[in-house]
Amino acid sequence: MTRGTWTPDTLIARYDEVRSHTERLAAPLSPEDQTVQSMPDVSPTKWHRAHVTWFFETFVLADHEPGFAPFQDQYWFLFNSYYEAVGPRYARAARGVISRPGAHDVGIYRGNVDARVRDLVSTLDHGALEKLTSTIELGFHHEQQHQELLLMDIKHVLSLNPLQPVYGGAPSAPTEPDRLGWVDVEGGLVEIGHRGAGFSFDNELPEHQVYLEPYRLADRLVTNGEWLAFMADGGYRRADLWLSDGWARVQSEGWRAPFYWVEADGVWLEHTLHGTWPVDPGLPVGHVSHYEADAYAAWAGKRLPTEAEWEHGVRAAGGDVTGNLADLETYHPRAAGPATGRLRQAYGDCWEWTSSAYLPYPGFHPADGAIGEYNGKFMSGQMVLRGGCALTPAGHTRPSYRNFFPPGSRWALSGVRLADGGAPTGGVAR
Ligand SMILES: [Fe+2]
Repeated sequence: MTRGTWTPDTLIARYDEVRSHTERLAAPLSPEDQTVQSMPDVSPTKWHRAHVTWFFETFVLADHEPGFAPFQDQYWFLFNSYYEAVGPRYARAARGVISRPGAHDVGIYRGNVDARVRDLVSTLDHGALEKLTSTIELGFHHEQQHQELLLMDIKHVLSLNPLQPVYGGAPSAPTEPDRLGWVDVEGGLVEIGHRGAGFSFDNELPEHQVYLEPYRLADRLVTNGEWLAFMADGGYRRADLWLSDGWARVQSEGWRAPFYWVEADGVWLEHTLHGTWPVDPGLPVGHVSHYEADAYAAWAGKRLPTEAEWEHGVRAAGGDVTGNLADLETYHPRAAGPATGRLRQAYGDCWEWTSSAYLPYPGFHPADGAIGEYNGKFMSGQMVLRGGCALTPAGHTRPSYRNFFPPGSRWALSGVRLADGGAPTGGVAR
């Protein structure tokens, strides 16, 4: 669906589809599951369900519904995430101490806002609806981002429980890593950024030219087996492989393996959304920070791709935006499958760290008003990831999509694709 093709009926149908999907994801979780905040980066499931509702209430209903009044005054405060222009908000790190509204009452809030959005969309005149459509569409994509976060966050919550609760998915049959191949990309003066009439976030704009030296991209993600070799070769003990900030985190946080790996009787196990299982050497490694990805690349004598190299390489390779995304309900990376001579796993499995800082594109302008806080104000101290992961809703990602996290983040499902040639290998002497 592209901008300008929405009718009230299609808009309401898509609204219902996106909103009900969030509820389907939350359905296997008890009210107690939905209340836990296991670390500051994690939000409780019921908070995600309420916050995406607050988004529609704040940015769609408040300015357009005749006689608007908030569903509940304090929800305005509780479920604002980071919008300074909307007003004060409850401390992010303390979301887990809020027992009320409970999961059931959040459902009532959702139902109330849903009915009011449907009413509004079906009663607005054509001109007014056209103006509001882009905000409603932003609300769909915002809710999809939280659908992914809901899964990433509950994975952490459940991983801390000795009962080893299962959310969903099942282990795949054990696999052997296949040989890593390379795809040559010509480079030159290329276009990156969102193009066409379909939806994009503001941070994907404007489309612009960049110059790329010829380069190569690995044809699949780095595997657990390869990561075990890095560990066995002292990867987490050799300062010469690490960026200075990364090495400081290795020391201060005691990193010696990916985030969800635990060693038991000399065997590495991994927490997943389907319980704790032996690490499968054929699957892509996940839940590594940018610092770890960069150290691995240094160990392998390679580097991480820039975001422009990733986007151009994937576009040059052609193909659909499909892969192991959340619609397959594996909720975990899968093996790359047989070599094809082209890029495998570009979408799905694991978000791919790039060596690019998250910065505005030339000519970037955030939107006016509170909604301008959506992306632009985070363009400091974060790195770009590309592609998508096994927890990303199908249809949510695209070649120009820019995800971003601080370089030390590990709870997101982030992995590694190597690059070679082209851009320099980094600014540190190793
Ligand atoms: Fe949000």
